[in-house]
Amino acid sequence: MRYDTINGDEISAIGMGCYALSGAYGSVDHHKYRKVIDRAIELGVVLFDTADTYGEDAERVLGDALVNVREDVFISTKVGITEGKKPDLSYDSVVDACKNSLSRLKTNYIDFYLIHFDDPETPVEETVEALEHLQDEQMILHYGVSHIPHQRVEEYIELGDPSILMFEYSAVARDAESRLFPLCRKHDLAGLAFSVTGRGVLTGKITPETEFGEGDIRNNDPLFKYARFGSALRIARKMEEIGKKHDKTPVQMAIAWVLSHPEITCALTGPSSIEHLEENVQGAEFTIPDEDMEELEQFLKQDHQRMLEDESELLKKLLKEPLDQKSGVSDLVYVFETAISRGWAEETDLMPLFMRLWKMKEDPDSAVMEEIQSVLKEGLLDNI
Ligand SMILES: NC(=O)c1ccc[n+]([C@@H]2O[C@H](COP(=O)([O-])OP(=O)(O)OC[C@H]3O[C@@H](n4cnc5c(N)ncnc54)[C@H](OP(=O)(O)O)[C@@H]3O)[C@@H](O)[C@H]2O)c1
Repeated sequence: MRYDTINGDEISAIGMGCYALSGAYGSVDHHKYRKVIDRAIELGVVLFDTADTYGEDAERVLGDALVNVREDVFISTKVGITEGKKPDLSYDSVVDACKNSLSRLKTNYIDFYLIHFDDPETPVEETVEALEHLQDEQMILHYGVSHIPHQRVEEYIELGDPSILMFEYSAVARDAESRLFPLCRKHDLAGLAFSVTGRGVLTGKITPETEFGEGDIRNNDPLFKYARFGSALRIARKMEEIGKKHDKTPVQMAIAWVLSHPEITCALTGPSSIEHLEENVQGAEFTIPDEDMEELEQFLKQDHQRMLEDESELLKKLLKEPLDQKSGVSDLVYVFETAISRGWAEETDLMPLFMRLWKMKEDPDSAVMEEIQSVLKEGLLDNI
């Protein structure tokens, strides 16, 4: 295992994420998952990531697994959103959430405490005050931000002292490069990349015939639909082609690719089997030769262009044509993500509308879907 430093501590290049315990990728057997965590420790993984919103059991399972090695590992957990509630980053809420996480994790300190989701109603000053209080009390050692609009990230940097940025990053999700990488470089922030296997798509084991179970977030994830899915499958095949030369699997190539970027300190992956974990960990042992990196970069640029072209006609269709009752929510999620990714709209402006849509993902209301589609059409159609 390779190690890099965050605030002087040695952190493994591969971190284990426990999002799967929330059921996001289908149901998970806790007993089996515990064995995956144990194996990760044996393999030299020292960073374990979770969140209060992954469900109470998620922090408990991790806490139980780490209790005997607590001093040798690092825990990151997150605050800001609870399923079914509005985001809340008020002082009292952050302090209470931290105490609850500490209790579930069976520890008296959290190494990295991360803001998980933005709460537009609470000033950043107030949240930073809560984080600094938790630091003074040594309940958290360091803090950082994740998954929040880049303007808010900049506010945290200006008003506080975060040391970590956590964001999605892989060969199929490169948005972080334009706005977050420069912040990592300028402010010496450690970049923790999540979903480095593209939620499985870069393993080469997912095909157009793959069906995800009920409740699996990939049923509504734009990466698994239309032009983006087509592009992701082509990228996985390219990883496979180059990987064969070096006896590496597509996912090992994908992880090595993430780690080739100096802004990334740790690549977080969330496998729920020992076999997948062992495969992924080996991705950190390999450095992609320069000539292959160049070939990959060329391919990724061309494929991105092809994806954008394919997507334009599709977006017009999704905005203008009647929505299907079954796929309407995920079609609109596709439009939201594309609009943000292409810079046609700011995440902060779209978020209230997005939350309205997301709330009814299990039970779509066609009148509300139509209303959301009409607002999006009004704001976006001229850009396409
Ligand atoms: N800050 C945030 O907002 C945020 C958001 C998302 C994630 N995260 C953190 O980052 C961690 C990593 O993200 P992620 O869980 O999305 O990572 P990921 O590893 O890209 O995705 C996990 C999915 O990929 C599959 N997979 C992984 N390796 C595989 C392999 N070798 N072969 C076949 N399938 C494989 C897993 O299947 P199996 O279950 O079958 O192994 C699972 O379905 C999360 O667990 C979480 O801790 C943070």
